[in-house]
Amino acid sequence: MVGAAHVLVDEDVRAPYETDWTRRWSGRAAAVVRPGSTDEVAAVLAWCDARGVAVVPQGGNTGMVGAGVPRAGERPQIVLSLARLTELGEVDAGSLQVSAGAGVTLAALQAHARAAGLDAGVDFGARDSAMLGGLVACDAGGIRALRHGTVRARVAGLEAVLADGRAVSRMSGLLKDNAGYDLPALLVGSEGTLGVITGVRWRLVPRHDARALALVPLAGLADAAPLLRAVRPRLPSLDACEFMTAEGLQLVLDHLRLPPPLEPRAPAYALLEAAANADPLPELAAALEAAGVEDALIADDTASRERLWRLREAHTEAISAAGVPHKLDVGVPLEALAPFCDAVRAAMPAGARTILFGHLGDGNVHVNVLGPDPADETVDETVLRLVAEHGGTISAEHGVGVAKARFLHLSRSAAEIEAMRAIKAALDPRATLNPGAVLDLVPL
Ligand code: FAD
Ligand code: MLT
Ligand code: ZN
Repeated sequence: MVGAAHVLVDEDVRAPYETDWTRRWSGRAAAVVRPGSTDEVAAVLAWCDARGVAVVPQGGNTGMVGAGVPRAGERPQIVLSLARLTELGEVDAGSLQVSAGAGVTLAALQAHARAAGLDAGVDFGARDSAMLGGLVACDAGGIRALRHGTVRARVAGLEAVLADGRAVSRMSGLLKDNAGYDLPALLVGSEGTLGVITGVRWRLVPRHDARALALVPLAGLADAAPLLRAVRPRLPSLDACEFMTAEGLQLVLDHLRLPPPLEPRAPAYALLEAAANADPLPELAAALEAAGVEDALIADDTASRERLWRLREAHTEAISAAGVPHKLDVGVPLEALAPFCDAVRAAMPAGARTILFGHLGDGNVHVNVLGPDPADETVDETVLRLVAEHGGTISAEHGVGVAKARFLHLSRSAAEIEAMRAIKAALDPRATLNPGAVLDLVPL
């Protein structure tokens, strides 16, 4: 169906597709299948569905919740790599949209959009590897979500193949099209459990070339939410608002062998970027002054901005270089961010190294715990219960995956989970697509 060269069965060749980015999740697939078109995806799915073979869709394999790689189970399974679907259409200047294959990387979309005077409206550290099908399947967030929303807000339409091989397509990009249930909306964030995305109609955003970045030292995380509240109404050009702590920054500095960006060191830091058509530095400086900030480090040229961003973005690789983390991407209301982080620190076992960082503007905390055995889920459960106690969500942007499937009830009611199961049963009655992800009772 896809050509013998695109069915990978050799153990060494399969290996990179079988273990996730964090090295916490892995399994064995009978084969890695790499279709080159929607028709080929449809043929492979029809074949697997008819024979009880489970299918794990995979894009760039940068996902963090174990749902893009095979897992333990009784049925044979394949990894379905969408990496060959790399077609990228012309930007339509009228609608500000573009059609792209599921295998187009985020970086390729960004470059394509920028060449047309626009931007992708989404950005994060895995941009060179993460693919649009994966972004849509996870409803990825990233560092620009506070301005442009998550990937859901970028999706004007989708092309996808259902579990039994039937293709569905809504790629017209019509802004107003409310004819019936919104299937593309259902597939966004479905993590490969309801359909395989093969193409995306992507909504672009204006390109802002003038940028200024501030690193603000904080006396503690308790100062983070008040800073955001003071700054945001005065800063319509706010494009990103991140936070990190002394422990995380030190890990990154050690990993990259760099000196600290600011002295004296602070317990926590906020990183605020403003972006506009004209220089946003005066607006950023005025907003910081109004918030009572006196000692921020400002970066307003590309090289110094990139140096500061590297300190934030390198957290993921620095943590993974130190071990296999318990990685919990969660969201809490802004006022609960500091109390939640304090509670997590206090609840971790002696000897554990707890690194907290994330997207301040979205109340999105990345809890990373190094030390406890990666196979022991006690740490995960403790953190996710604390999230629920603080009124938050167990998954902000990485998805539920297999990592959190059994904890879904902490964020969703029994009625909601029942409705999700009914949708899964209707669209994928033989549980062919990504069994074990999102809903833990769908067996493999
Ligand atoms: P994969 O890892 O291949 O798959 C992820 C999930 O999507 C799996 O469930 C898989 O089955 C499913 N899937 C993949 N392709 C398809 C398809 N075509 N159709 C149906 N299902 C599919 N995420 C954020 O949200 N924000 C961040 O800031 C962020 N930063 C990151 C930084 C680093 C350094 C790394 C390594 C990861 C980061 N991530 C972030 C996580 C990850 O990059 C995103 O979740 C991304 O969307 C995954 O894309 P992918 O192509 O790698 O998907
Ligand atoms: C990030 O914001 O850097 C990511 O979501 C990746 C991570 O959580 O490690
Ligand atoms: Zn993130």
